[in-house]
Amino acid sequence: MMAFLLEGSVAALLLLFTTVKTCHLSCRCEEQSFGLFDSFSLTRVDCSGLGPNIIPVSIPVETSSLDLSSNGIRSIEGAVLSGPGYTTLSSLNLSNNLIPVMNGSVFSKLRYLETLDLSWNAIKILVEGFSGLPLAEVDLSHNRIHEINLNVFRVRDHGRPFSVDLSYNLLKSVTRSKLSQPLNIQSLNLAGNELTSVPNLQDISLRFLTLDDNPISVIDEQSFVGLKYLIHLSLSLMPDLQTIKPQSLQDLQNLQVLDLSNNKRLKTLSAEVFHGLTSLQELNLLNCWLTSLPANILQLLPSIKSIVLKEGVNCWRIQKQERFHRLVRRKEAEAALTCDVTGVIL
Ligand SMILES: *[C@@H]1O[C@H](CO)[C@@H](O)[C@H](O)[C@H]1NC(C)=O
Ligand SMILES: *[C@@H]1O[C@H](CO)[C@@H](O)[C@H](O)[C@H]1NC(C)=O
Repeated sequence: MMAFLLEGSVAALLLLFTTVKTCHLSCRCEEQSFGLFDSFSLTRVDCSGLGPNIIPVSIPVETSSLDLSSNGIRSIEGAVLSGPGYTTLSSLNLSNNLIPVMNGSVFSKLRYLETLDLSWNAIKILVEGFSGLPLAEVDLSHNRIHEINLNVFRVRDHGRPFSVDLSYNLLKSVTRSKLSQPLNIQSLNLAGNELTSVPNLQDISLRFLTLDDNPISVIDEQSFVGLKYLIHLSLSLMPDLQTIKPQSLQDLQNLQVLDLSNNKRLKTLSAEVFHGLTSLQELNLLNCWLTSLPANILQLLPSIKSIVLKEGVNCWRIQKQERFHRLVRRKEAEAALTCDVTGVIL
């Protein structure tokens, strides 16, 4: 009886040990220790490419990163993402699976989740959202999302700013219902979706926005209203983009990088398009069919440092000789744009 008990408890202990300390046989675990006497450790667990039966998988405590990519997983339930190791998870990779519907609430136990990769799935529908999670990066690229309610990104409490990558979906619309809390997303990647217009992202303190490869044909005065914190805007590879209306970018006073490359149907950019871009440092116009740029581009873009015009044609700002202004009694540097290929006239 005693022996049995002992055996039982040893088994229980072993089980505990298995759940808590050791790595699942098929997965690859890598432990990193930090701190005095290695008192603090983080474990990365790679369970990729093992097939759908790998879930639910028990992971060691203090797992910081779990890779469940390329497993042919079709659905994920909240119960799958719970257990000792999951509470410490800061990064979860579910890319390259077959998930068609994503209910964001399955991640609700992952209180420290910062990075979530859901790219290359079959996600058409995203419900319930990621509210309450301190997400720093969400990759929803290469899915089939038709519609997204920006409520899914709402932060319930004033958590850390987070970024969301929705690139390469089949996103058709982004809607936003009345929000009780401001959105705090810093980086949003909506590349490769089916957006036909720029979604209303007002009230989000976005810093990075990518709308590449969407069937947007017109950028207008409403497109970027209120996005005054935006630093980086990518509007590249837009097969239908023909028009950027005057004053469309005027709210983007902090924008430093604007990528308009590979827009084959974009033929003109009026001077008024650049209105308000006082911080813009880099402008990429590679592979556009622009015939000219406004002659006063340097006055329009007082902070500009470099413009990529064509393949192998890069232009940058130089200070010409200083002129002494007798009237104002000070030297004034005169700026000019120079390109590394002769014959480019701006
Ligand atoms: C997730 O896994 C995929 C495939 O293994 C990999 O390409 C991707 O970089 C991973 N994502 C993150 C955020 O590490
Ligand atoms: C999402 O999952 C939660 C928890 O399992 C459930 O209560 C909720 O109804 C689900 N939402 C939808 C729209 O399916």
